[in-house]
Amino acid sequence: MGFSTTAIHVGNEPDPSTGAVTVPIYQTSTYAQDGLGRHKGYEYARTQNPTRAAMEQNVAALEGARYGYAFASGMAAIDATLRLIKGGEHVVVSDNTYGGTFRLFDKILRNYGIEFTFVDTSEAANVEAAVRDNTRMVFVETPTNPVMIVTDLQAVSDVAHRAGARVVCDNTFMSPYLQRPLDFGVDIVVHSTTKYLNGHSDGVGGCVVLNDERDAEWLKFVQNGAGAIISPLDAWLVLRGTKTLALRMEQHDRSGRAVAAFLEEHPKVQKIYYPGSVSHRQHELAKRQQKGFGGMIAFDVGSLEAARTVLESVRLCTLAESLGGVETLISHPLTMTHASVLPETRQRLGITDGLVRVSVGLEDTEDIIADLDQALGKLSTR
Ligand SMILES: Cc1ncc(COP(=O)(O)O)c(C=O)c1O
Repeated sequence: MGFSTTAIHVGNEPDPSTGAVTVPIYQTSTYAQDGLGRHKGYEYARTQNPTRAAMEQNVAALEGARYGYAFASGMAAIDATLRLIKGGEHVVVSDNTYGGTFRLFDKILRNYGIEFTFVDTSEAANVEAAVRDNTRMVFVETPTNPVMIVTDLQAVSDVAHRAGARVVCDNTFMSPYLQRPLDFGVDIVVHSTTKYLNGHSDGVGGCVVLNDERDAEWLKFVQNGAGAIISPLDAWLVLRGTKTLALRMEQHDRSGRAVAAFLEEHPKVQKIYYPGSVSHRQHELAKRQQKGFGGMIAFDVGSLEAARTVLESVRLCTLAESLGGVETLISHPLTMTHASVLPETRQRLGITDGLVRVSVGLEDTEDIIADLDQALGKLSTR
């Protein structure tokens, strides 16, 4: 089955009791049982929910995985995935992950004896140099948020597997339509479904998909045991969202290319971070590993004052955190999404005062460009 057929049909069988073609939102906390120990596979809604199960099946199928588990947010999904690691074990992490991921690892999970080494995973040799006898996981994000560094998933998977570690990839930025990490040897994919999978900025959720049966059993146990489950409505919104994922990603990608080309030529833009650009040092790798480049672009206008001018002058683009929705969002990583990253790390990565991030939405391309043009135009008058 093709991607869209899978997206529209897997998990989305018509409801057997009514024939409803969309999966109902099973808004219930518990299920009537026929007798002691006799039930229909559903006992309590933290443990099982049919809407959630449909969504998990759907997202797993889109990533080419056997198992899927949905959580209350992307961070809850990442937290649950890290429960595969015990105190005293070690994880190698992309040094340019989403700020919230860094905060979870560095400020929370370190307190429980899990060791982390943050490296530039765009060079597999850095991962090789960082692995130790107790390394059990390599956690990568590609392209990274916000400076769009690409990690070679196959190369990193080879290194990690030789060291006996699993590889986890946060695929939020690409979605399974543009990148399928499991095809490159990755073991576990995590998503903030809040972004492209939902796609409409109206839900919060996360999902973990994988093929290994033992790890899957543990994640299922953690999902129920720790209980950070996605709500039935949020699961349903993801099911609704993935039906148009291919169409949406095609358009995010088309507009992304056009906006990037516009920014690249603009005299007030000092630098652009976009793997779709031939000037990106990993353009060839991105082309090999991704089906497109998506709608995420970062660009540097040189100073906090210039960034503020742009961010406060846009009219169509909305100044907000988050990404992956139908509307174009614009943000300032330094003070918003990446405020918890250490200053020296931010400086090294290029998360500067003047860095602006755009999540290119689904408005007409020329309207997005016109808005950025008029906002950047405010800089030339200063
Ligand atoms: C790449 C990435 N991973 C994970 C997350 C966390 O997701 P959530 O906000 O759903 O917890 C985000 C949020 O922005 C993200 O951008």
